[in-house]
Amino acid sequence: MVIKHILVLLFLVFRLSSAKVTYNVQSFGAKPDGRSDSKNAFLKAWTLSCNSTSPASIYVPAGRYLIASALTFSGQGCKSRAITFNIAGTLVAPSSYNAIGNAQVWIKFYIVKNVTINGGTLDAQGSSLWACKTSGKACPKGSTTLGFYHSQNILISKLRSLNSQMFHMLLYSCKNAKIQGVSIVAPGLSPNTDGIHLTYSTGITILSSKISTGDDCVSIGPGNSNIWIEKVVCGPGHGISIGSLGWEREEPGVQNVTVKTTTFVGTTNGLRIKAWARSSNGFVNGVYFKGATMMNVKFPIIIDGNYCPNNNNCPNEASGVKISNVMYENVHGTSATRVAVKFDCSKGNPCRGIVLKDVDLKFGGQPANSSCSYAAGTASGLLHPTSCL
Ligand SMILES: *[C@@H]1O[C@H](CO)[C@@H](O)[C@H](O)[C@H]1NC(C)=O
Ligand SMILES: *[C@@H]1O[C@H](CO)[C@@H](O)[C@H](O)[C@H]1NC(C)=O
Ligand SMILES: *[C@@H]1O[C@H](CO)[C@@H](O)[C@H](O)[C@H]1NC(C)=O
Ligand SMILES: *[C@@H]1O[C@H](CO)[C@@H](O)[C@H](O)[C@H]1NC(C)=O
Repeated sequence: MVIKHILVLLFLVFRLSSAKVTYNVQSFGAKPDGRSDSKNAFLKAWTLSCNSTSPASIYVPAGRYLIASALTFSGQGCKSRAITFNIAGTLVAPSSYNAIGNAQVWIKFYIVKNVTINGGTLDAQGSSLWACKTSGKACPKGSTTLGFYHSQNILISKLRSLNSQMFHMLLYSCKNAKIQGVSIVAPGLSPNTDGIHLTYSTGITILSSKISTGDDCVSIGPGNSNIWIEKVVCGPGHGISIGSLGWEREEPGVQNVTVKTTTFVGTTNGLRIKAWARSSNGFVNGVYFKGATMMNVKFPIIIDGNYCPNNNNCPNEASGVKISNVMYENVHGTSATRVAVKFDCSKGNPCRGIVLKDVDLKFGGQPANSSCSYAAGTASGLLHPTSCL
C-alpha cells in the first residue's frame, strides 16, 4: 500500500515537473468545417496555454477553421515558458475582404516569448481585395496575414501561407526569430503581397523556404541587424530587397545582412537595395550576398539610390541614405534585360566599398552590361559583365 502511494506520488511529481500540457482547439468549440467562426476557441486555448506553468502546446487537427476577424495572441502576463502550436489544419479568413481588410494584421502575436508554430496553413483568401485594388475602386488597405510584434525567441517552421491581402509575414521589433521550411504562395500579379517583411528586428534567420508572390520575396526595412537568409527560392515576385529605406528623415540603419545560396526565377529584381531620394540619416552597412542563381531576372543586381516612383514625394533631393560595404560573390545566371548589374547611387552620398567577386550574368546568350553612377569599390575573379566600379 505504502509503496503504491509513493509510486503515485512520484508519478505526480514527475508529471508536474516535466509534463507538457496540450490544448486541442476542438475541445473549445473549434469546428473544422470552414464555416463556423473558431476564433474564440483559439483564444481560449491560448489563454490557458499562456497561464500554464508547464510548457504548453495548442493542437489544431486537420480541417479548415474559419477565423472570421482579426485575432491577437498576447503574451502579456503569460506564465508559461514556451508555447507551441502544432497545426495539421488550415486557418482560413472570410472570402469577403472587409472582414479583415481594415485590421493591420489578421493573426497577430504581441509581446510573446518562446513561441513555436509547427506546420499548418494560413489562407487569407486575398483575391477579392486584389480585384478591388486593381479595379481602381476605394478599397481597404488589407491586412498582413501573420505578424509578430515586440517578440522574442520565435520559431516558425513548415508553415504555408496562401494569398495574403497584404504582406504574408511580418516581424516588427523582434529579437531572435527563425523562419524555416515555409512556403508562401500568391500570384505574380497580386498587389503588395510581400513574402516576409522585417522591420526594427535583430537576430533573424530565414532558411530553406520557397516564396512566390506579387511583391518582394523578402523585404528588409529600416532598423534591422544581424539578418541571415539562406536557401531561399524566390519567384514570381520582386526579389529580395533591402528597403525601401530613407523615407523618414530620422531613421535607424540596416547592418550585417547575409543572403546566401538563393535562387530567383523570373523575378523583377534579384538582389536589390533601394533608398528613397529624400533626405535621411539612414544607412546600410555590411551586406554579404553570397551565391545566387538568377533565371531570367530583370535586374539581377541593383542598387537604386534614387528611388522615387512617379517622381512623387522626392523634393529634388538625392537620397541621404549611406550605402557601404556591400559584397556580391558568386552570382550567376541569366538577366532579362541588358544591364544586369546596376549601381545607381546617390550623388550626395555615393556608395562605398562595393565588392564584386565572380559574377557571371548573361543576357540573350551574350555577356550582359553593367552601369555605375556614384559607386566605388573593388572587383575580382571572373566578371561578366566587366565591372564599372
Ligand atoms: C490562471 O492560473 C491560476 C492558477 O495558476 C488560476 O487561479 C487562474 O484562474 C487562471 N486564469 C485563467 C484565466 O485561466
Ligand atoms: C524562453 O526559453 C528560454 C530557453 O529555454 C528560457 O531560458 C527563458 O526563461 C524562456 N522565457 C520565458 C519568458 O519563459
Ligand atoms: C552578423 O550576423 C550574424 C547572424 O546573422 C551573426 O552570427 C554575427 O555575429 C553578426 N556579426 C556581427 C559583427 O555582429
Ligand atoms: C554598355 O553600357 C555602356 C554605358 O553604360 C554603353 O556605352 C555600352 O554601349 C553598353 N554596351 C552594350 C553592349 O550595350
